[in-house]
Amino acid sequence: MRAQVTLQRLAEMKERREPIVMVTAYDYPSARTAEQAEVDMVLVGDSGAQVVLGHDSTVAVTVDEMLVLAGAVRRGVQSAFVVADLPFGSTEVSDEQAIATAVRFVKEAGADAVKLEGGGEARLSRIRAIADAGIPVVAHVGLTPQTAVALGGLRAQGRTADSAARLVREALAVQDAGASVLVIEAVPAEVTAVVLPALEIPVIGIGAGSADGQVLVLHDLLGITEGRTAAFVKRYGSIGPDMVSAVQAYAGEVRGGVFPGPEHVYASTDEAVAAARAELEARTSD
Ligand code: KIV
Repeated sequence: MRAQVTLQRLAEMKERREPIVMVTAYDYPSARTAEQAEVDMVLVGDSGAQVVLGHDSTVAVTVDEMLVLAGAVRRGVQSAFVVADLPFGSTEVSDEQAIATAVRFVKEAGADAVKLEGGGEARLSRIRAIADAGIPVVAHVGLTPQTAVALGGLRAQGRTADSAARLVREALAVQDAGASVLVIEAVPAEVTAVVLPALEIPVIGIGAGSADGQVLVLHDLLGITEGRTAAFVKRYGSIGPDMVSAVQAYAGEVRGGVFPGPEHVYASTDEAVAAARAELEARTSD
């Protein structure tokens, strides 16, 4: 069995320049897929709101829904480091609210760490509070989908002078606040390259060029996601059309009387069939 991935192991990987592989998962089968593929980190992302719950943004997902997803993922993962996203509305009110939410993800779902979007003042206070409570925090800067409306939509960050400076400021600040890992999303590779050498914590990129590791949404990389995906997504499979074809084949066989075939039914005995007939006769004859 593979050794447990810990924060210490992630730090060593950064030190040795061993790329860290992270992928999202939202349920037991996707967690098993990630575990069997021997990824290092599994993120129960609030992208699950869109990917598995059918919402049109990440904002709608609740703590209780995320806890169900995170618990299922935890049961499917033995060695990878499991991170759970703290959904929108579950940390905004106060540091106390943020600690209480983070504690639920550790106690009820078994998460190894929680992820928190943003690097502004209030966010830094939340990161500090959760880290001080003994729960590892993964910070997330650049494009932060929970507050995409305030960022002008789901668009790349760090492309103007102001935005690039802000990205650097926030990346350094979340590290100082106690984050153990940082995700940078949708930022030009050159801007990531500027800040990366100044960060001691492992940095995971998504649409942010080279970093200490990379994360992708599982359903995007498998080719299950319908329609357009972000420009930074690379598809490594086209499982979606295969899934539709398989269900169509099943439907065709049921409709054509081909399934179930003789190999898919349980054998019986003459005695059992006779008893069933006798029972039916006794109950239907007057
Ligand atoms: O929710 C998510 O999947 C994420 C990744 C895109 C980093 O936050």
